[in-house]
Amino acid sequence: MSVLHIRHLSHRYGITEALTNVNLDLHASETLALVGPSGCGKSTLLHLVSGLLTPSEGIIHSEFRGPACVFQEPRLMPWKTGLDNIALGLKALGVAGTARRKRAADLGQRMGLSLRDMDKYPHALSGGMQSRVSLARALVINPDLLLLDEPFTALDIGLKEALYAALDLQIAQQGTAVLLITHDLIEAVRLADRIVMMVPKPGRILYEFPLMHPHHQRDSAWVYHTMAKLMQVDAIRIGFGLSDDTLSPFNSHQPIQGCSV
Ligand SMILES: Nc1ncnc2c1ncn2[C@@H]1O[C@H](COP(=O)(O)OP(=O)(O)OP(=O)(O)O)[C@@H](O)[C@H]1O
Ligand SMILES: [Mg+2]
Repeated sequence: MSVLHIRHLSHRYGITEALTNVNLDLHASETLALVGPSGCGKSTLLHLVSGLLTPSEGIIHSEFRGPACVFQEPRLMPWKTGLDNIALGLKALGVAGTARRKRAADLGQRMGLSLRDMDKYPHALSGGMQSRVSLARALVINPDLLLLDEPFTALDIGLKEALYAALDLQIAQQGTAVLLITHDLIEAVRLADRIVMMVPKPGRILYEFPLMHPHHQRDSAWVYHTMAKLMQVDAIRIGFGLSDDTLSPFNSHQPIQGCSV
């Protein structure tokens, strides 16, 4: 089974210590949600795993074939239509033109994009449409590792549910491992096998919370109940800026292990 190991990972931008001593493992079929306040190094971690950045210190060992990424800003090719943006990875894999466009169109439609939308160039698409094109571009190549930086932020609730289902299907059918950055704790509870809470200055992992409940049994009642339990955890409250207690776990350099739900 493929695995990603991150050991003693640190990263600096000049004098800014963006990440310090991050240790993480991610296995095939596993979804790990990275949560934490703005500036705690989530995107930096994703850029390091994707190979866009080289770490200042530490090791990233990946047995996955290669990641497909959805970055915080959609990064679409402005000179290609939505459909051709989705099909981009298939072209690189050598899939012929007609088959490529059909697969891209089918997936785009499952994500709520009409053929008419997909015929438009990125500047004529809404933010939410661009996010979906970007997500479809990553999913269409059936990656074994998906790196997602807030891919659902610009979407309304109904669309989010449809995309969560597309993601669940991808994981179930392909055994894809997912590293998901989100600000939305409900989303993390709905999708993740583990929630990893990060804090800034310097960016580091404060707390890990495993969620053992099978994904297909995560109905709204379970999600809200679990969310309520999590909101009572000090480290989560502090991480999301909901507590006056700026002392204890935030200032500790030791990660705290959660309990299972
Ligand atoms: N290219 C860069 N050059 C210099 N500093 C950077 C650069 N990118 C990020 N940083 C700094 O590194 C720290 C972590 O930034 P990062 O973008 O990883 O945070 P984040 O957790 O993704 O935040 P957000 O939730 O707002 O997206 C911040 O202090 C940020 O200012
Ligand atoms: Mg970010």
